[in-house]
Amino acid sequence: MSHRWACLLGRPVAHSLSPALHNAAFLALGIDAHYDARDVALDDLPAVVDSLRAPDCFGANVTAPHKQAVMALLDSVGVEAQALGAVNTIVNTNGRLSGGNTDAAGLARWMRLSGIEPRGNPTVVLGAGGAARSAVWALADLGATSVVVLNRTVERAEALVTGLRTHLPATYLTWGALDKAAEAVNQPWRVVINATSLGHHGASPVVHPSWYSPGSVAIELAYNPPETGFMVAARQAGARAENGLGMLLHQAALAFERWTGQVPPMDVYEAAVAGHERIGQ
Ligand SMILES: NC(=O)c1ccc[n+]([C@@H]2O[C@H](COP(=O)([O-])OP(=O)(O)OC[C@H]3O[C@@H](n4cnc5c(N)ncnc54)[C@H](OP(=O)(O)O)[C@@H]3O)[C@@H](O)[C@H]2O)c1
Repeated sequence: MSHRWACLLGRPVAHSLSPALHNAAFLALGIDAHYDARDVALDDLPAVVDSLRAPDCFGANVTAPHKQAVMALLDSVGVEAQALGAVNTIVNTNGRLSGGNTDAAGLARWMRLSGIEPRGNPTVVLGAGGAARSAVWALADLGATSVVVLNRTVERAEALVTGLRTHLPATYLTWGALDKAAEAVNQPWRVVINATSLGHHGASPVVHPSWYSPGSVAIELAYNPPETGFMVAARQAGARAENGLGMLLHQAALAFERWTGQVPPMDVYEAAVAGHERIGQ
């Protein structure tokens, strides 16, 4: 086949890093293909998704606000994407569209490659939106003994935990109010993930210094700005702190692999986003 294509479906998409990432990887691997970002209204979603069945299309990424709505338009949706309640990757195989979610697997792969080891340890996720769901899944996948989900709206944390418990039986999941993070604890946590969107607004959840030791890792899922108050406070309390760029790159890499069967060079991805001040899938 000659020229191929893939795209991002969302609204807005102008901020997206995905075209820079995937186009750089196509070029580096000598794949004759391009990737573009498409601003799609909800009413237009069925027709746009149908266009992905074309023989020259690899598939698509999906971002807000279409990650849920797109599920009903596909021929199949993977177990993990169903459990997470969101599709971020569509693969076109001979006109059949399958939906998957690479956020949790991308976060888990980056953590593994970065030497972040939740196995056998208690962990915390702050927030209860889509990113928090993926974070809980990734921590359970990496063998965390427990995950406590703390959220401003406690009912959302409860719903997240009760929804995921049956899928993640080996990890003890519980929930509480985000305010709990400000209270002292007797034992530091191994991994604390901030999956609230506060970092975008120059704000951070308050986390008590006793939550951290030198063996702790604090992960901010936002990556713009690259350093947040959550990360600074964690470092001051002795922990290692990281932002969400690694998750972004690895969820993109997994989508690329599903479309092309080839592994994108991560140094090419890193170079493609270096210096970019934009946010998003
Ligand atoms: N690195 C990556 O690849 C990647 C991928 C996806 C997302 N992310 C990042 O993850 C974060 C969350 O994204 P999302 O898609 O999960 O968003 P979301 O579904 O909108 O959830 C937002 C979360 O932030 C909480 N929150 C918002 N404003 C708050 C406030 N003023 N005080 C306390 N809590 C507040 C919400 O609590 P309530 O439930 O109480 O409203 C909710 O838990 C964002 O920073 C996003 O950029 C990163």
